Amino acid sequence: MRIFKHPIIEDFNRGKKVRIEVDGKTIDAYEGETIAAALAASDIKIFRYTKKNHDPRGIYCGIGYCTDCMMTVNGQPNIRTCMTKVKDGMKIKTQDGRGKWGG
Ligand code: FES
Repeated sequence: MRIFKHPIIEDFNRGKKVRIEVDGKTIDAYEGETIAAALAASDIKIFRYTKKNHDPRGIYCGIGYCTDCMMTVNGQPNIRTCMTKVKDGMKIKTQDGRGKWGG
């Protein structure tokens, strides 16, 4: 299942197919969709683990408010993937706790 409308991102048109890397695995995505949408379409549900209890988190609000979807993107931690559009060749990692730069 893919997302075709977003309540906040107005320009949400599906573009050409691109490839992104998630924890070392390559998946298909489309220009114009968010990272979270691409991961959901590939049945990836865990985006990060909490610092204190190591509890899994994934998409919750989908509008950039809750921070449950934060991941490390191209070495930068704490990226809200529900508000960040994919770019060809992005390297995305499941985030552990607060994440690490370069991690
Ligand atoms: S799912 Fe809540 S900020 Fe992304």
